[in-house]
Amino acid sequence: MSGSAITPWVVGNWKMNPMQSDSQQLIQSLKQYLQAAPISAQQCRIAVAPTAIALLPVQQQLKDAAVDVLTVAQDLSRVAGTGAYTGEVSAELLKDSGIEHVLIGHSERRELFGDNVQIITEKVKNALKADLSIIYCVGESLEQRESGQAEQVVLQQICDLANVVSNAQWTKVIVAYEPIWAIGTGKTASPADAQAMHANIRSGLKQLTPHGETMAILYGGSVKAENAEALAACPDINGALVGGAALNAESFYQIAQAFAQVKK
Ligand code: PGA
Repeated sequence: MSGSAITPWVVGNWKMNPMQSDSQQLIQSLKQYLQAAPISAQQCRIAVAPTAIALLPVQQQLKDAAVDVLTVAQDLSRVAGTGAYTGEVSAELLKDSGIEHVLIGHSERRELFGDNVQIITEKVKNALKADLSIIYCVGESLEQRESGQAEQVVLQQICDLANVVSNAQWTKVIVAYEPIWAIGTGKTASPADAQAMHANIRSGLKQLTPHGETMAILYGGSVKAENAEALAACPDINGALVGGAALNAESFYQIAQAFAQVKK
């Protein structure tokens, strides 16, 4: 199967934004765009990842959207189940609330909140054990790219993942490549550089699982309505993880539309 036969995913990572009233407006506006010109789940899977406190209101508000928009958690606890773990939200609690997808290993978690390989792999194990689907983020720093280590760093992150994913669980995994130097900086990897890394990731995944052939590999890092089409045109870029531009319904919708149209 060629990369373009994979259904693209466009996922809005809202990070620690916005206030509840703005969140309601953002969803309302996104629903209006989708009502006026629907993008079917076959054309492009659309998802939003609000803050933990907004997950359930957003999910509720999306129930009557013209197309199915998924609600994704931005993180989960390294601890499974329930218990005396103040401040934590486990995979089981997410599942119990009807949340089926979770981001894991975002570079902001790795860099700012101490999510090291051990913690990230515990989170992966917990999520998959609770039957959640994961969007596993990988990416190199500017220093690593400039010293020629980008590919090695990213493939190591894929190996870290492979160490804890069983054969049957790979269908619940999506990978997002987000070069750290491109996140929130306005600097996007060129489509050629992004495609080259995505092709490396795909060939690494194919060695680990037959599902590597059809797995969606998303690009993230300053994706905007203006650059979405060029990124979507790359065969191994099967969608986007969008930060800043996801806080504007029009640009987020346009990014989803670009992927839906180019990949058709
Ligand atoms: P950005 O963030 O689109 O604002 O660069 C992407 C991300 O961190 O997921």
